[in-house]
Amino acid sequence: MSDGATARGSATEREEARKIAEGLEHLSGFGNEHTSEAVPGALPVGRNSPQRAPLGLYAEQLSGSAFTEPRAENRRSWLYRIRPSAAHPAFTRTGNGALRSAPFTQTVPDPNRLRWNPLPEPAEGTDFLAGLWTLGGNGDVTQRSGMAVHLYHADASMRRVLSDADGELLIVPERGGLLLRTEFGLLHVEPGHIALIPRGVRFRVELLDETARGYVCENYGAPFRLPDLGPIGANGLANARDFRAPVAAYEDVEGPVEVVNKFCGNLWAATYDHSPLDVVAWHGNHVPYAYDLRRFNVMGTISYDHPDPSIFTVLTSPSDTPGLAGVDFVVFAPRWLVGEDTFRPPYFHRNVMSEYMGLIEGAYDAKTAGEGGFVPGGGSLHNMMSAHGPDRETFDRASAAELRPQKIDDGLAFMFETRWPVSLTPQAARADHLQQGYDDVWQGLERHFRPLH
Ligand SMILES: [Fe+2]
Repeated sequence: MSDGATARGSATEREEARKIAEGLEHLSGFGNEHTSEAVPGALPVGRNSPQRAPLGLYAEQLSGSAFTEPRAENRRSWLYRIRPSAAHPAFTRTGNGALRSAPFTQTVPDPNRLRWNPLPEPAEGTDFLAGLWTLGGNGDVTQRSGMAVHLYHADASMRRVLSDADGELLIVPERGGLLLRTEFGLLHVEPGHIALIPRGVRFRVELLDETARGYVCENYGAPFRLPDLGPIGANGLANARDFRAPVAAYEDVEGPVEVVNKFCGNLWAATYDHSPLDVVAWHGNHVPYAYDLRRFNVMGTISYDHPDPSIFTVLTSPSDTPGLAGVDFVVFAPRWLVGEDTFRPPYFHRNVMSEYMGLIEGAYDAKTAGEGGFVPGGGSLHNMMSAHGPDRETFDRASAAELRPQKIDDGLAFMFETRWPVSLTPQAARADHLQQGYDDVWQGLERHFRPLH
């Protein structure tokens, strides 16, 4: 194996995948009614399901909402494929690995502030699916409510195909580029980007570097959308035009392909006699997409006080209560701090929402960086009403800082913020990489109170 081929896949394969990834075209926009065809004439004109679809393809609808949901929330796509998805043998149960689903009832919900180091390196030959490790979550996967926090580590490209009937997957790479081959076409993401695979969409993750690591929010609830902007106006935060959807691309592969289906918390597998990534053309708005978080248009104060972090919302999954998200995805991107007479890092707080926070690169401005601290690939959990905020060192520094305009540009942190507490899996509660003594960062916050008399 002169090119370094191993169970992980060869360097040549990665180079080829990278060449493909870097040459990709895409469609622009969020929530659009896109159309795309890999072969001219593959999309029927003027109807979705003609008596005979063009080029001998099968027409198939994939829905992401009930047929009767309001137009603004309605999501579906029409796929024109070599074989209909129905052409498959029975699924049988396969191992769930370290992947877990709600309800998370095996541990007692923990009010403590918790922080983890990154996952240990994967065993050789671990693909994205095998490398998924569930930290915890909330809700109930059979009720399409709540969310799960997963981390992943991998050193091999998937040969198999995955689809998740339980929710959409928001993938947040922290290490290693990914080429996502989906039914709709290909997406390329690097650390600092996000990718979203909608509920039910089949895909495969190929590695562009020797290893890959990152975070996944599995959203069981309403699909993520862009937040309303209110008085901000028509532009700002994540701009719709910066989202990338794939152009149609298909595999015409006859031969055994393992397809894994996550359904109501368990993995089921079947061996197809063809690749299900065989969609030659499609149209619709239930589509995968990618976004570069550095395109986020950060809003903040230009007078005083730190705004509430909701101002950093990239995507939100609404609940039935206006303004109350099932889960928000929030990014702490590079930005200027200019607040006058202001404690500029995030303030001390106790929130009704629960916060899982991760770090894609660099440092976060409310926490001391470095080993044993909040490091890239690690994460922290501040559950409902838990008291947290800047650590002592940050408090001391920010309280004494000279308030010149200051650029925060040495980190990229994010948050999955959810309406219900995050209950842990036993593997997260007992993990070797769960830090001991996280509470200590708030020790030594001295008493400064001086009554006037
Ligand atoms: Fe917080």
